[in-house]
Amino acid sequence: MKLVQVENDTEMSQVAAEKIISLVTHNPTATLGLATGGTPKGVYAELRRDYENNHTSYHSIKAVNLDEYVGLTAEDPNSYKYYMSKELFNHINIKSTNTHLPHGNAEDLNEECVRYEKLIKSLGGIDLQLLGIGHNGHIGFNEPGTSFESRTHLVHLTEQTITANSRYFSSYEEVPKQAITMGIQTILCSKEIVLIASGKEKAESIKRLFKGEINESFPASTLLLHANVTVIADKEATALL
Ligand code: GLP
Repeated sequence: MKLVQVENDTEMSQVAAEKIISLVTHNPTATLGLATGGTPKGVYAELRRDYENNHTSYHSIKAVNLDEYVGLTAEDPNSYKYYMSKELFNHINIKSTNTHLPHGNAEDLNEECVRYEKLIKSLGGIDLQLLGIGHNGHIGFNEPGTSFESRTHLVHLTEQTITANSRYFSSYEEVPKQAITMGIQTILCSKEIVLIASGKEKAESIKRLFKGEINESFPASTLLLHANVTVIADKEATALL
């Protein structure tokens, strides 16, 4: 696992965006695995800026997102579908038919998980997966204890994750209690993984990740089993290393 230590969130976003732009330029039909949350916002801002200035084309790029809440409509500003349109997809020339997120409103959620997993395979797998990290080491919505063999599945969010994500909702009660997420094995099958972290709230997680102990109680530690992972983390997130 490679660590790129950067000054701050801005530099983290630039370095991560450069990696994505380089892939899109060299492999115009690549499949990008994308993430949501606060951390990737700067990355998407960089991609928007690059698109405006350099016209990097996403014409044949495919995108698959890590996860989606259960029960929110695509129009709900808290759905990850809405987030992706607002932060990235509406601003670049990616085809909407090439952008994918799990359907959190599907009638049969388990069937939806199977469909999503098949979809990723049919796209030839993920060339580069962007990841954030939760306070408890979750990746996507794979909470502590999730099997490293897991594929796309339905999860019950932990209280800690609901509390952490409630900052985007008007109350704790409004945060969905379930989500669909790519599984840990789904993520590990990506050819390349880029994990980004900024701010002191992530320092404990980054410390634990680099301790090097592989354990299902800390989902991100699965990344130690992958041959091509880059962690881009700022000063505050690496303060405890
Ligand atoms: C959510 C997402 C994760 C994300 C995590 C951290 O739970 N499902 O993919 O990594 O939050 O989010 P943030 O970047 O806002 O700290």
